[in-house]
Amino acid sequence: MRILNASGCLDALAAPDVARQLDAFVTKTVTPQPREGSAPPRIAETAHGMLNAIGLANPGRKRFLAEHLPRLGELGIPLWVSVGGFCADDYAATCSRLAGIEAIELNLSCPNVDEAADSAAEIVAACRQATELPLYAKLSAAHPDVADVARAVAAAGADGLSLINTLRATALDRELQPVLARGSGGLSGPALKPVALYAVSVCSEAASLPIVGMGGIESGRDALEFAACGARDIALGTVLFGDPGAPARVRAELAAACADLGVATPDDVRSLAKSPETMRKVHA
Ligand SMILES: Cc1cc2nc3c(=O)[nH]c(=O)nc-3n(C[C@H](O)[C@H](O)[C@H](O)COP(=O)(O)O)c2cc1C
Repeated sequence: MRILNASGCLDALAAPDVARQLDAFVTKTVTPQPREGSAPPRIAETAHGMLNAIGLANPGRKRFLAEHLPRLGELGIPLWVSVGGFCADDYAATCSRLAGIEAIELNLSCPNVDEAADSAAEIVAACRQATELPLYAKLSAAHPDVADVARAVAAAGADGLSLINTLRATALDRELQPVLARGSGGLSGPALKPVALYAVSVCSEAASLPIVGMGGIESGRDALEFAACGARDIALGTVLFGDPGAPARVRAELAAACADLGVATPDDVRSLAKSPETMRKVHA
């Protein structure tokens, strides 16, 4: 099981020592044009997680390719570039310009920008024409049937799935007004874990693609639960803001959690947990 960061939760150039604990570094989502992101406040704490409405702030494709990517390359860590956009051509144009990286993650699910007009499968199909690099489709659990989306992106040529992105949510201040200037944001952290485990479980059954599981992972035991639901790898997001040592800690805890269960590696428990769909069929 490899440990990555979740896109947008680590600046590898500002914190290279944290990034070097990872098996691969995933960039913040890059869009064709520069974006300043949403107005502040754009972060709020909630009881069991956090809300963010960063709004895909990023330097845009041109500057990212000319300045950021070469500097990231110097870190000597395998790189994944997270690609965003507002139509299939946006995504494909960025994919066609990427080389020398390990994989591309297509952010098909940011809750802080208006929905992409093209469907997830259309975007993946366009990107498949544009690059031979491995394509991971990052999906949202907000879709009524995420397994259906997983099947569709697999048929369109995705090589893997990243599950899950944040869920749209809101938090109120003392005067009963939204804390975030945008009104709503993406919920991340521990509150997301059960939702993510479900999504990993049903998608691993729907499409036989490798899955990077994420959503509230804070410990080695959490990581092992993602493996049991079908994830091959995991990514750490919100936990990194409070604990920059999390990648090394989670890796050590994961080994201990395996030993506790008497298994050699997380691969030995992969898909051990029956998905709710399978359970339903078993009991039907
Ligand atoms: C501050 C912040 C910024 C994020 N930015 C992005 C982003 O640019 N692209 C993306 O695909 N996901 C982004 N995410 C979502 C995370 O990559 C991840 O899917 C989500 O936070 C769930 O994992 P976690 O609960 O471990 O944080 C962001 C999350 C946070 C908290």
